[in-house]
Amino acid sequence: MMTGTGCWCGTLLLLLHIADSERFEVLGSTRAIVAVAGDDIILPCYIKPNISAEDMRVDWFRINLPDPQSNIRVHLYQDGIDKYHDQVLSYRGRTSLFKEELKKGNTSLKLTRVQGTDDGRYKCLVESKTHYDDATIQVYVRAVGSKPEVSIEGQKEGGMALLCVSKGWFPEPELEWLDSEGVTLSAGPSETDRDYEGFYIVKLKIPVNETDNLFTCRLRQRQQHEVIKMETEFHFPSEPILVHTDTWKVALAVIGSLGFFLMVILAFTIWRWNALCKVYDASRAEHSQELEQVKDELRLELEKNLNTKLKMLADQLDLVNMKGCPELETIRKHAVDVTLDPDTAHHYSCVPE
Ligand SMILES: *[C@@H]1O[C@H](CO)[C@@H](O)[C@H](O)[C@H]1NC(C)=O
Ligand SMILES: *[C@@H]1O[C@H](CO)[C@@H](O)[C@H](O)[C@H]1NC(C)=O
Ligand SMILES: *[C@@H]1O[C@H](CO)[C@@H](O)[C@H](O)[C@H]1NC(C)=O
Repeated sequence: MMTGTGCWCGTLLLLLHIADSERFEVLGSTRAIVAVAGDDIILPCYIKPNISAEDMRVDWFRINLPDPQSNIRVHLYQDGIDKYHDQVLSYRGRTSLFKEELKKGNTSLKLTRVQGTDDGRYKCLVESKTHYDDATIQVYVRAVGSKPEVSIEGQKEGGMALLCVSKGWFPEPELEWLDSEGVTLSAGPSETDRDYEGFYIVKLKIPVNETDNLFTCRLRQRQQHEVIKMETEFHFPSEPILVHTDTWKVALAVIGSLGFFLMVILAFTIWRWNALCKVYDASRAEHSQELEQVKDELRLELEKNLNTKLKMLADQLDLVNMKGCPELETIRKHAVDVTLDPDTAHHYSCVPE
C-alpha cells in the first residue's frame, strides 16, 4: 500500500523525469562560416539529444552591433509554420529551414544569394514549452569587387584631379594613390559608400601636377589570412594639361568637317534639282510648241474641208430648191463662217433624200 507521502514523492519524480527528458542543448558551429557573395550557405544549428523540434519555436536573428539590444529578425518558425511578419527586408525570400530535418532536431538555416549585409553574428534560439537554449554562429562575407577605374576630373581651382573608383567589395578595401616613383601621395581618407546589398564602393581623388605623368591607384583588401591587391595605372600624354582642350579641338574639328560635308551634299542636291527642272521645262515647252503647230494645221484642214462640204451642200439644196427645211438658212449662215467645231457638225442632218 502506498502512503500519501510516497504518492507525492512519486509524482515529483515523474515530473522531474519529464522535465529532464525535455531538457536539451543547442549547438551551432565553433568555426566561422566564410560565405562568398552570391553563394547559398547553411548556418548550422541543432539540438542535443536529437529530439524533434517540430513543436518548438526556432528563432534565427542577427546580433546588431554595436547595439545588441536591437536584433535583426532573420527567420522565425513557431506553431509549426514559418512567420515572416517581422522579417527584415534584406532577408526576404532568402531564408528557409529544413522541414524534414526538424524531426531530428536539426534547426539549421539555409540562406541563399549571400550579400554584403549578411555579414555578422547570428543567434539560433530554440524554445520548447519548458526549456530553451541558443547557439551563436559567425558569418564572414567575402566579395572581390571590380578593378579600380581611373578618370580625370576638373578642379574648382582650375587644376586637375584623378578619381579612382572601385565597387562590389566586402569587407571594405583601402585605396591609395602612388606617384611614378611608388611614393604614396597624401590625399586624405577615401570616400566609402555601400550599395543596396551592402557591398562597398570606395573612391579616392587626388589633385595632380604637370610635374609627373604616371600615377597608380592601388586597392588592398585584407581578409583573414590573405591580402587581395589590385592596381590601375594612369599615364598622362606628353602634354598633360592640354588633355581636355585637345578633346575639345578634336570634337570641334569633327563637328566642323561633318557640317561642311553636309553643306556640300545639300548644295550638290539643290544644283542637280535645278538642272533637272530646267531640262524638264525646256522639253515641255518644246513639246507644247509642236503640239500647238499640229493643232493649228489640223484646225485649218478641218475648216477647209467643212467649208467646202457645206458649200457643196448649200449649192445642191439651192439646186433642188427644196422647201420646208427650217435649218437651211442656218446652214447657209454657217457655211460662211464655220470655225473648228467638229462636235456640232453632225447635227446638220437635214440632208436631201
Ligand atoms: C538520433 O541519434 C541516434 C544516435 O546518435 C540515432 O540512432 C537516431 O536514429 C537519431 N534519431 C533521429 C530521429 O535522427
Ligand atoms: C542539418 O541539415 C542540413 C541540411 O540537410 C545538413 O547539411 C546538416 O548536416 C544537418 N546537420 C546535422 C547536425 O545533422
Ligand atoms: C604639385 O606641385 C606643388 C608645388 O608646385 C607641390 O607642392 C605638390 O606636392 C605637387 N603635387 C603633386 C601631386 O605632385
